[in-house]
This record gives sequence, structure tokens and C-alpha cells, in this order.
Amino acid sequence: MSKIIAIANNKGGVGKTTTVAALAYAWSAKGYKVLLVDLDSQANLTQITSPTPLEDIEMTVKEAIAYGVQPPITRLSKTLDLIPSGLELSNFENEVAGVSCREFLVSDMLNKIKSNYDVILIDCPPALGLLTYNALVAADHLVMTATADSLSYAGMLMIGGLAKRIRENPRLNPELKTSAVIVTKFKSNKLTNSFLQKIRDEIGPALIDPPVREATKIQQATAFRQSIFQYDPDGNATKDYQAVADALEERLLKD
Ligand SMILES: Nc1ncnc2c1ncn2[C@@H]1O[C@H](COP(=O)(O)OP(=O)(O)O)[C@@H](O)[C@H]1O
Ligand SMILES: [Mg+2]
Repeated sequence: MSKIIAIANNKGGVGKTTTVAALAYAWSAKGYKVLLVDLDSQANLTQITSPTPLEDIEMTVKEAIAYGVQPPITRLSKTLDLIPSGLELSNFENEVAGVSCREFLVSDMLNKIKSNYDVILIDCPPALGLLTYNALVAADHLVMTATADSLSYAGMLMIGGLAKRIRENPRLNPELKTSAVIVTKFKSNKLTNSFLQKIRDEIGPALIDPPVREATKIQQATAFRQSIFQYDPDGNATKDYQAVADALEERLLKD
């Protein structure tokens, strides 16, 4: 049965997109059929994975969720597909303002295609708006990424609160689980260690420990539109992401 995983934090720059790309690569390389859904109008995930330049992409996730048409699926490899995003998604909330049941638009889109996949990874925008709401209504699992600082920590608590409200509403998604927190871009010092400990105390076993270390190779890999597993196979952050992918595979994909 396919699993839908939303990667979220309403703070930007905390490693959501990088984590989605790393998990997709690690799991699709193992033979899982993976679908990526880019729900961010900044389209970073689309830019780093799609062979088609952003300006040449004719149809994006926006048409599929706003108008209910068949989702545009780009094949990235034998076991990896992408539903791309684009700037037009930034107007989504206004466009669907009068649509009924607009919390279920992403869920409705995924219901048509989810049987084709083992796992669907949704890259959420850095906001608590309707798109993130839709992602959490559609998801089996919420996975949060965070950096070890106060603003990212606050963002994590806000997403956690939103997930709780969605879970407590029987018409929305009572099955939603807050399954993991991944600390990214970690550079050990007194302050970051105290935040890591705070997250450890608060989140308990949902925290994936140890965190993913900061590595400039990650930014370089992004710039070259390569997976970190190809660009820097022996790097620290690559090893960290492999461990994260293995831990999450055990927790989320094998039950
Ligand atoms: N472990 C890491 N070490 C160094 N830089 C990283 C790491 N993870 C992500 N980055 C960089 O941080 C920036 C923000 O990451 P991104 O994944 O786009 O965050 P988000 O999707 O939450 O906005 C990007 O430039 C990315 O290359
Ligand atoms: Mg992003």
C-alpha cells in the first residue's frame, strides 16, 4: 500500500526540499516506486530534479489541484516521477477561494494515481496556508525538517499544532501521524547542541538522531542539479542522509 509523506516546516531554508530530493533518490535507487509532488510555488524541487527548464513546463500541479485535470507527471527515472510546480501556484489560494471542500484538492488528485506508487513525497511550501493544509489532509505521515535554532523550532511547533487540529477533526485526517523530525544543516556548538537537546526532550523517539551535518557539497550538488549521492558519495552529509533514509524506510515504509 502506498504511503504519502508530507515534508513540512513553515520556516524556509530548513532543508525540506533537500531532504525530499535525498529521500527520493535513496528510496528509488532501492527499487521503491516514488512520486515527488512539488507544492511550493518557488519550484525548487522541480528546478533541481526536472530535465525540462522551468519556463518550458506547460502544466504544473496547479492545474491538477485547482481544476481537477489529470496531473502532469514527468518521468525522472524508472522508479521516480515528479509532478512539477511553477510560479502560477502562488495564486492558488485566490483561485480556489470559492471552491467547496478545498482542503481535499491534493488528496483528490493523489487518490487517482497513488496505487501506482510505493511512496509519495510532498515538498511543502514554507507557510501554513492552504497548500500545507492540503498536504497534511492527504498525508499518512508528517515529517518535519528543522535547523537547530529558535525560529526553525518555532516553525516546527506551529506545523505540529496544525497537524494536531487536522488529526482531531474526524472529517479531515484522524490517521495523520507526526512521524519524524529531521534536524538538518547541523554544525555543533553550544547553542545548536542546546536546541538539539530541546528537540530531543520535546519530540522523543520521533527525532532522527544524529542530525544531518552542514556541508557545502550539498549546496554545490544543488547548483549542479545532481543528487548528493552522485555528487559526493562519501561525504558526511551524504552518509547522514543515507542513515535518515534507512531509518525512515524502517519506520514508514515497512509497516
Ligand atoms: N546539510 C546541509 N548543509 C549545507 N547546506 C544545506 C544543507 N541542507 C540544505 N542546504 C542548503 O540550504 C538551502 C535551503 O535548503 P532547502 O532544502 O531548499 O530548504 P527549504 O526547502 O526548507 O527552504 C539550500 O541552498 C540548500 O542547498
Ligand atoms: Mg523548499
